[in-house]
Amino acid sequence: MDTKFIQEKFKSLFKTEGNLYTSPGRINLIGEHTDYNGGFVLPGSIDKAMYCEIKSNGTSTIRAYALDLEEYVEFGLGENDLPTQSWAKYLYGVCREMIKRGAAIVGFDTVFAGDVPLGAGMSSSAALESCFGYALNDIYQLGFDRFELAKIGQATEHNYVGVKCGIMDQFASCFGKEGSLIRLDCRSLEYQYVLFHPEGYRLVLINTCVAHELASSAYNKRRQSCENVVAAIQRRHPSVKLLRDADWCMLKEVANEVTPEDYIRAEFVLEEIQRLLDVCVAMENNDYETVGKKMYETHIGLSRKYEVSCEELDFLNDIARTSGVTGSRVMGGGFGGCTINLIKNELYDGFIKRALESYEQKFKIKPQVYDVVIKAGARKLL
Ligand code: GLA
Repeated sequence: MDTKFIQEKFKSLFKTEGNLYTSPGRINLIGEHTDYNGGFVLPGSIDKAMYCEIKSNGTSTIRAYALDLEEYVEFGLGENDLPTQSWAKYLYGVCREMIKRGAAIVGFDTVFAGDVPLGAGMSSSAALESCFGYALNDIYQLGFDRFELAKIGQATEHNYVGVKCGIMDQFASCFGKEGSLIRLDCRSLEYQYVLFHPEGYRLVLINTCVAHELASSAYNKRRQSCENVVAAIQRRHPSVKLLRDADWCMLKEVANEVTPEDYIRAEFVLEEIQRLLDVCVAMENNDYETVGKKMYETHIGLSRKYEVSCEELDFLNDIARTSGVTGSRVMGGGFGGCTINLIKNELYDGFIKRALESYEQKFKIKPQVYDVVIKAGARKLL
């Protein structure tokens, strides 16, 4: 994205120049709804990001301009200063979480913008949190490491936005590396970079351009289901703190002690954790046919067991399957947003054409197509 417009606006609003920072959105190859269960994920940061120019202003007020929305807001950083605009809550939340951890943050001026599509499952909100987390850490020399910055972003979602998300999105935005996916163990936060160059294949996202309402409350309910099952298992196995710690025998033991709905959600999580491990082995062997097969399995699980898909996503998944696409599934939290598709180079054009035409014909909405380019994580630009 050209940051010229951010810089021009900053200069005209604040009559000075600040520093420029960016942090990206993410894809996730496999491992969905496993992060808050302590499982594994396989995300990568992408070439779509949030950008901010920022400078300390010597007052106790934040003066922020959201360029894409053309909205200007001023707010303080006291406990009761939560702004009403949803985007400003992210900025305020990041600052408050830093202050809770002992940071001395005073007022600043900022203009920000981005090209991560909103509501598409590419984590525009984590990109925003990480962009400001990284920027504030740098301009005030706060000394937080990237782990802490990711946790600050996650805590912002929990405490100021109301989404009880896992750590995947913020971690990917903070730790991303060009050309690599991140195999992250969400229990220990140990991670490895995995080179991702699937010879002969491409990764492409198709955005349904729908974001169904209540997605965040449904997301929190899924998390609650998992916690209910953990609580039941814990009665027999106190060392189990997360679904990741449980095995199939432990799950089966509580089949009659949890609701059928919670049980089937937990089944999905255990299967998905295993699927990710299988995919990592397949990638080591350059076996992308197996990777693709697992992606379809994830979609079926997310659609039928975890119930976070929707008609539009299922439709795109069907088109992929019947067009010979190697792997396809709903990506991210669900209830709209994108499918991620692993496709052989020679099938790409035909599939995209068919998907666009048939989707538009059925839903009267033009879907968006994004080729996945894996780029670096949060950083200073100027
Ligand atoms: C959202 C959340 C993540 C993760 C995914 C599902 O993106 O923010 O923490 O749970 O959904 O895998």
